[in-house]
Amino acid sequence: MSALFLLLHLLHARRKPLKVGEDENMAQMKDAIGHFTGAIESPKAFKAEMKLFLRLFSSYTAQRIERRILDWDKIQATTPNQVIKYEDLPASGNVKNLLKLAVLKFNGGLGTSMGLTGAKSALEVKDGLTFLDIIIQQMKDLNEQNAVDVPLLLMTSFHTHDDTIRVVRKHAGERQRITTFNQSRFPRVYKDTLLPCPQSVDDDKEKWYPPGHGDVYNALVHTGLLDQLIAQGKEYLFVSNSDNLGATVDDRILQHMVESKAEFIMEVTDKTRADIQGGTLINYDGHIRLLEITQVPSEHVEDFQSARRFKVFNTNNLWINIKSLKRVMNHAGMGLDLITKEKVASDGHTVIQLETAAGSAMRHFNSAHGVHVPRSRFLPVKTCSDLLLLKSDLFSLQNARLVLSAERMFATTPVIKLGEHYRNVAEFQERFKYIPDMIDLDHLTVTGDVHFGRNVTLRGTVIISAGEGHRIDVPPGCTLENRLLSGDLKLTEL
Ligand SMILES: *[C@@H]1O[C@H](CO)[C@@H](O)[C@H](O)[C@H]1NC(C)=O
Ligand SMILES: *[C@@H]1O[C@H](CO)[C@@H](O)[C@H](O)[C@H]1NC(C)=O
Repeated sequence: MSALFLLLHLLHARRKPLKVGEDENMAQMKDAIGHFTGAIESPKAFKAEMKLFLRLFSSYTAQRIERRILDWDKIQATTPNQVIKYEDLPASGNVKNLLKLAVLKFNGGLGTSMGLTGAKSALEVKDGLTFLDIIIQQMKDLNEQNAVDVPLLLMTSFHTHDDTIRVVRKHAGERQRITTFNQSRFPRVYKDTLLPCPQSVDDDKEKWYPPGHGDVYNALVHTGLLDQLIAQGKEYLFVSNSDNLGATVDDRILQHMVESKAEFIMEVTDKTRADIQGGTLINYDGHIRLLEITQVPSEHVEDFQSARRFKVFNTNNLWINIKSLKRVMNHAGMGLDLITKEKVASDGHTVIQLETAAGSAMRHFNSAHGVHVPRSRFLPVKTCSDLLLLKSDLFSLQNARLVLSAERMFATTPVIKLGEHYRNVAEFQERFKYIPDMIDLDHLTVTGDVHFGRNVTLRGTVIISAGEGHRIDVPPGCTLENRLLSGDLKLTEL
C-alpha cells in the first residue's frame, strides 16, 4: 500500500508542470529543498540561503546545456594601466586612511588537504602560534602603532566556527574589535540524480558544504555587517585568505586605492610552477577580468598554466570599496562565475559542490585593476612543504609579520618536495620533530620514512629517499650539503 502511494506520489511529482525556461532538474531540486524548511527555527534566513543556492544550481543546469566558454582568441595580455607595479605606488600612505578601513579574512577552510579535521587557521604555524593568533597580533600592532581602531572580520563556515571562536577567546584584549560571522551552508548534490544529498536541514555535516569565498558578499549583506560597516564610516575593505600570513595591511596600496578611486584592486604576483592552478588577469574585449582555469577550453589548459604567457596570478588579497559593494548588491546582486567541484563522498557517491570565488566580482566594479606585488605578500600554506618553510629559520616573526631571514643570499625560498609520508600534518610532525636549518638550502626532496634529529643543517641540494619499508634517521647535529641519501641507512657518521 505504502509502496503504491510512493509510486503515485513520484508520478505526481514528475508530472508537475514546468515553468517556462525551467528544466526538470531545477524543478525537482526546488521541490526537494522546499521540503526542508518545515522543521527549522529561523526559516527566513534558511530560505534566503537556499534561494542563493538555487540561483547557483540554475546556472549549473543552464551550463550543462550551453557551456559558456571564453573565446580564446579574444584573450589579450593586460596593459600597464590594468596591472600596476607595486614599486610605482605612492611611497607611503596617510595614516588617516586607516580610519576608513576594515579587514576581513576568509576563514572557512578546513585543512583537509593536510589531513586536518578542524579549521586550518587554528593550526600552529610558527613559534607556537596559530594562523589566527598571528593575524590577531598583526591587527593589534597595526592599531597600536597608528592609534587607530581597524576592525577584523572573520568569515567562518559551519566547519570552522567552533575552532575560530576558541582561538579568538584567548585574545581577551582584542575581542571587541573582532567580529566572526558565518558564511552559507549549501547542500551537496548527487551527480547522477542531481538531487540534494541531505534529507533534512539537520542531516549529517558531510552532506553540506560552504560554497567558497565568493559567498562573502551575500554573507555581508545577510548578516547586516555591510550596513554596519557603512554606518561606522568604513569605506575600504581588505580581504584575504587566513592561511596567507603575507597579507598584511599595506599603506601604499591603500593610499593608491584612495587616490585612484578604484573600486576594486586585486593583488597579483609572479607565477611559479607551484601556482599554475591560480586564476590570472586578462584583457578581454578591452576589459580586465579574472580568468580561472575552469573557464579555459580544455585544449588551452596548457597555455593557461604556462608562466610565459600568463605571468601573474591572483593572490586573493583584494581591496574593495564598501559603498561600491553596496551599490552592486542593491542593483543586481553579485553575479559570480560558477565553479563546479566534484568529490567522492564517504558513501562512494560522486557529489558536486557549486562554489564561487571572491575575485570574480572584479568585473562589477569601476576602475578595477591589478597591483603586481612582491611574492612576500603571498605566503600560503597549502601543504606540509609550505608549513616546513614557514617553520624553518628562513622566516622569523617580527611584529607578527613573517620576515625572510637577512642571512639568506637569495630573495627566493628553496624548492621543497615532500613525499606521501608527509601529506598530513600528524605524519609531518612525527618525522620533522626538529626543523632543520635551511638558510643555504636550494632544493630539498624527502620521500619515504625519514626522521630528522635535532640541529640538522641542510645546504644546497639535498635529496633523501628511504625505500619502501625502510627508515632513514638523520642524526642530530649533522650537516648535509649537496647530498643524495637513499636506501636503508642508520646514519651515524657523515
Ligand atoms: C554559526 O554557525 C555555527 C555552527 O554551525 C553555529 O553554532 C552558530 O550559532 C552560527 N552563528 C550564527 C551567528 O548564526
Ligand atoms: C648544532 O650543530 C652545529 C654544527 O652543525 C654546532 O656548531 C652547534 O653547536 C650545534 N648546536 C646545538 C644546540 O647542538
